[in-house]
Amino acid sequence: MRMIVRGARLWTDQETDRKQPVARDGLSDVEVGEDGRIARVLAHDDQKEPPATGVLIEAHGSLLTAPFVEPHIHLDTALTAGDPRPNTSGTLWEGIACWSERKATLTREDVVARATEVLRWQAAQGVLHVRTHCDITDPSLTALDALLEVRDRVRDVMTLQIVAFPQEGVVSYPDGEALLRAAVARGADVVGAIPHFEDTREDGVASLGIAFAVAEEHGLRVDAHCDEIDDEQSRFVEVLAALALRSGLRGRATASHTTAMGSYNGAYSFKLQRLLSRSGINLVANPFANLTLQGRFDAYPKRRGLTQVKEMLAAGVNVAFGHDDVMDPWNALGTGNPLQTALVGLYAAQLTGAAEIPTAFSMVTHRAARVLGLDGTEYGITEGGPASFVLLPAPSAEEAIRRQVRPRYVVSRGTVLAETPPAPTRLSWPGEAPADIDFASTYAGAP
Ligand code: FE2
Repeated sequence: MRMIVRGARLWTDQETDRKQPVARDGLSDVEVGEDGRIARVLAHDDQKEPPATGVLIEAHGSLLTAPFVEPHIHLDTALTAGDPRPNTSGTLWEGIACWSERKATLTREDVVARATEVLRWQAAQGVLHVRTHCDITDPSLTALDALLEVRDRVRDVMTLQIVAFPQEGVVSYPDGEALLRAAVARGADVVGAIPHFEDTREDGVASLGIAFAVAEEHGLRVDAHCDEIDDEQSRFVEVLAALALRSGLRGRATASHTTAMGSYNGAYSFKLQRLLSRSGINLVANPFANLTLQGRFDAYPKRRGLTQVKEMLAAGVNVAFGHDDVMDPWNALGTGNPLQTALVGLYAAQLTGAAEIPTAFSMVTHRAARVLGLDGTEYGITEGGPASFVLLPAPSAEEAIRRQVRPRYVVSRGTVLAETPPAPTRLSWPGEAPADIDFASTYAGAP
């Protein structure tokens, strides 16, 4: 046995996970074989002697979850905030202008270094599957080549999907379609689009048609930045859903952002919910960028800027949360931390009902995994599956989000990738001797 995790509380997604063996105290043991896969999941037995060899992790009732999944990030733009100039207005449009200037100075080494740094941050925080968008409206495709190199370099510990993302358009940008096709030929995993940014409605529709055609030709998925605008007339998500429904890409297409949906009227929203649930497409909301970039043209009342998260979940649509930007022209902050994404996302989307908070956790784990197309053989704590998981120092998903805990252990394919020892705070409270406290942990009640 290579590793055993004893006494863990398994996080299970209500919709996808099968029931796991648990002891009466709700705890389980997970045994990892020499092949880096989960050999057995057992009800916890505290009488049983731990094996003499291999790594022993005593979980003490902590939450063991499949790794966090990042469904939407931009690693090519990450860590460029302020370079060559800060985004002084903080708007989407000035961000695109800043990026256009920065893009002219990109080198392969520059992109490799920044992308790798953010992936290291994410891995340390338990994110082992990442889908990054990569701007391919650049005749040199420098960023794409760099990210392909990064994908190979991190292959042993995490999976990276690269979306060929035409930031400045497919139809409206010179040779946009040729660049999209060239990106796929070089090895991009997913085909992107940005229909609301194209010059006309017709160009936007045509760009989605091109993206789906390229994806079908190459057996790839589609993930479009779609309707990332407050304009209630921006209705490309219906085009994307209809293409998914009618093509061979049902369930393999994602609409990211879709913030215009936050401005659609009730009658149209009702029609759309039905179409989206039939189409099987995924939605990815990006709460940091959406909250900060949308509503910029509003006086008060000012719109929230998010897609219809709660309504689409209720309609049976798979919705996930992404981090989107990490210290780039659109968000000067950002850490890549999925629990931060979940916290901000659940507040922004008002997922604050008792049953909705675990849903927010699923939106950065299992629901995000579905966006990437990870199946049961690649994701989840199941016998025979990869021994990749995260032990969080909290008894539940709600507590992990509320306390914004850092993973105690991150295990990738049977090997400890990151370890964060507990870091207590020494509090010198008046009238008491200085003592270590784990602040904001569950209140045990009055003595
Ligand atoms: Fe994005």
